[in-house]
Amino acid sequence: MPTVQFQLNGVATVVDADPDQTLLDVLRGRLGITGAHFGCGAGECGACRVMVDGHAMTSCDMPMWSVADKDVVTVEGIGTLEQPHPLQRAFITEQAMQCGYCVTGILISAAALLKRNPSPTETEVRAALDRNLCRCGSHNRMVRAVLRAASEMATS
Ligand code: FES
Repeated sequence: MPTVQFQLNGVATVVDADPDQTLLDVLRGRLGITGAHFGCGAGECGACRVMVDGHAMTSCDMPMWSVADKDVVTVEGIGTLEQPHPLQRAFITEQAMQCGYCVTGILISAAALLKRNPSPTETEVRAALDRNLCRCGSHNRMVRAVLRAASEMATS
């Protein structure tokens, strides 16, 4: 089976994989990285989002060949229990989730936004999260959490 090399959460990674297998399958099934979730499997819900070269992308429809030599960051790569990302702290402070299934993909979309735009407006936050679905209806709290994190990051 061919190998695919890429950076995963800052670590050089080589995996035997069918080049047409999806990144989400390889992350969850082969590498034990389970932060990205399977929702729709069709690129529509955002539960599987990861950052690829700094951009929030769906991994359920991303073939392995397309991530060769790319920099992939999952939610496991943005913060730890000991040192959570400001977004993770803000989501807890704002109670910005209910079931939590979508939240890892939303954190990735928000982290990608703050990387390219550290001081987004509410409208820009809403646009960045527009492709992430949340069936619990926590969007307003999530927007507040992203704005809180941006504010904290600006003053730290
Ligand atoms: Fe990938 Fe829904 S599982 S977008």
